[in-house]
Amino acid sequence: MNIHTYEKVWLAAAMVLIVGFIATITYGAVGPGIAMIDDNGGTIDPANINDHERFGDPGVEHVGGNEYEVNVVAQAWLYTPDQIEVPENSEVTFYVTSRDVTHSFSVVGTNINTMVVPGQVSEMTVQFDEPGEYGILCNEYCGEGHHTMEGLLTVVPEEEFDLTELSVDAPREVEAGNETTINATVSNGMQEDLETTVTLEIGDQQYEEDVTVAGDGSETVEFPVDTTELGTGEYDWTVTADGYEDSGTLSVVEPTDGSDGGDGGEGDA
Ligand code: CUA
Repeated sequence: MNIHTYEKVWLAAAMVLIVGFIATITYGAVGPGIAMIDDNGGTIDPANINDHERFGDPGVEHVGGNEYEVNVVAQAWLYTPDQIEVPENSEVTFYVTSRDVTHSFSVVGTNINTMVVPGQVSEMTVQFDEPGEYGILCNEYCGEGHHTMEGLLTVVPEEEFDLTELSVDAPREVEAGNETTINATVSNGMQEDLETTVTLEIGDQQYEEDVTVAGDGSETVEFPVDTTELGTGEYDWTVTADGYEDSGTLSVVEPTDGSDGGDGGEGDA
């Protein structure tokens, strides 16, 4: 049988195209690391989400190195948490479940886009190399508030990523000889414990105390300040914890003789 040369060329071209299509699809499926969401995340009882180790206290968890886990609960019509912050150059695994109906968890501008089904945990791991802001929204119609269901994912520069906060409660004025305290509260937004030393410097007095702040908790350290030893005057104080600093000034005034100390009270405001 004689096959015309043009026929052979077209046959060959068709074979090349078919092989090319298959190669493209295969590469698209496995090459760039895109995985289908499967049931690896496991199942969960939607009625007992609050007692679940992962979802009872949702949020960002540092699991070591550059790896983070973010646990999110979806419900009509919000995500908990709805503000998520992770550092750049991190590998983040999201675990998302629903309390009520089917939602989605879609991070705009990324390939994070999964259905969130009650009873199931959707799990996906993503690498964030650059700082940026991404909207989170629900792509599955879930009721009248569906269009308001949104959140924000912020990828911050590594040096800015820190979930610690320090706040200090200190009187402005105290009578010499009276007891006073300067209270420093350290909040730990991460889910792992934070060990740090809280220090207070005032005049030539120095205090320090080691604290362990539980994940997602806070600890308050009370520093009793010896005003008799300070004597009257203006004293700058500085409190530090975990690289954070707060400062202010305490006035130690003469005791008001014979009065009930009504003046001294105003400093506590
Ligand atoms: Cu939740 Cu739409």
